[in-house]
Amino acid sequence: MEKKYYIVTYGCQMNVHESEKLAGILRSRGYTEAACEEGADIVVFNTCCIRENAENHAYGNIGALKKRKKADRGFLIAVGGCMTQQPGAAEKLRKKFPFVDIVFGTHNLEEFGALLDQKAGQKKAVVSIPEKEGPVREEDISYRTSYPNAWVNIMYGCNNFCSYCIVPYVRGRERSRAPEAVVSEAWKLLDEGYKEITLLGQNVNSYGNDAGGQCSFPQLLHKICEKEGKYRLRFMTSNPKDFGEELVEAIAAHEQVCKLIHLPVQAGSDRILRLMNRKYTAEEYLKKVEMLRRAVPGCQLSTDIMVGFPTETEEDFQATLDLVKAADFSAAFTFVYSRRSGTAAAAMEGQIPEEVQKERIMRLVELVNAQTREKSLSYRGKTVEILCEDYDEKKNLYLGRDEYGRMGYFASGRSRIGEFVKIKVSETSGVSLAGELITEEGE
Ligand code: 5AD
Ligand code: SF4
Repeated sequence: MEKKYYIVTYGCQMNVHESEKLAGILRSRGYTEAACEEGADIVVFNTCCIRENAENHAYGNIGALKKRKKADRGFLIAVGGCMTQQPGAAEKLRKKFPFVDIVFGTHNLEEFGALLDQKAGQKKAVVSIPEKEGPVREEDISYRTSYPNAWVNIMYGCNNFCSYCIVPYVRGRERSRAPEAVVSEAWKLLDEGYKEITLLGQNVNSYGNDAGGQCSFPQLLHKICEKEGKYRLRFMTSNPKDFGEELVEAIAAHEQVCKLIHLPVQAGSDRILRLMNRKYTAEEYLKKVEMLRRAVPGCQLSTDIMVGFPTETEEDFQATLDLVKAADFSAAFTFVYSRRSGTAAAAMEGQIPEEVQKERIMRLVELVNAQTREKSLSYRGKTVEILCEDYDEKKNLYLGRDEYGRMGYFASGRSRIGEFVKIKVSETSGVSLAGELITEEGE
């Protein structure tokens, strides 16, 4: 009988893309996707440890499968991703959940198929967590889940060691893929009909540094954009410390590069930014924003912001609010600082009580939402171009995003998925827009 898999993904786009890679491995072994966990012969948890709550979620969901595993010995549970790659995590996991069959890390994701085969031949659990990352290995990604968008890794790992962040510990040092490999993957995807490519890296601005700097990130953008045609090119994430003129020029030069730039600021207080090891001040950040806005008129900015970092005072927090206003972000991902064992910040004195963190995040979210709402309001009556991504059965509407990542909904008599369409915006609510489809003559 046909075997089915179900993958549970926690965390960021990087993990979403890695789950596609895992799905490809399972499919190459004859598995097909189950509609839900209950219908699966194997459940794979692709975990994240960037914040404690993501970890707790994963622990809770793995624990919930204990009963089923007891009743059905043939049912398999695999756990991989960032969480397992932390020192001592695999042992902790095995102790807590001895019924888990396969444990693997971030550095050996592509070996998942071999681990699955190994498990088929033995009763004992298979645990394989390489201590160190290896060189970049080119993989042929056979399965994707996000048409018309396709994720393309340009590099792995991070060298920055922001003091709060676990990523450099679990994903290793920066390793860039060869520019030829990235360009040929992107072009092949466009030839296959993908309409949007999102380049992924923890800090795309340092792309190529580990390979002698023969091809920088802006040069990579130029190379990809040599491909003519209508498509969108996005990238994430940029560290502001390395965000420079050359990149701004590349963004401005190509119609295909979306003019929504994600530039995580984290905080607005220079003292906190220093403690975070971010290597820029609020003023330097705002100068870069100004440079970007001058060179790319009409561009929009999104960001990541954290509250409640150790020793953050009300005054520091006010500086964050001030910066959110000054930078005029269109959207922001907001986080409460989470203490990650092994990072420099975990050892700092002055950890902030939870009530204070909660109160600050509420105020921050309120401000960010107001700014986002206001930006949405300015869309009323305007015509925007949407790349249609999906169909919402409940609403009986198609949906997609504009260049700036705003979600737009519209009615259509036929599927528009994968098409660029124009809609006239009639309603706005928070981050989304609703409008009427403007059909081309002859349709
Ligand atoms: N606590 C809270 N947020 C964090 N991030 C990274 N580490 C932590 C942490 N320890 C946030 C940062 C980063 C985003 C991907 O996650 O804002 O930009
Ligand atoms: Fe973490 Fe900083 Fe690297 Fe981003 S740049 S992954 S926040 S260490």
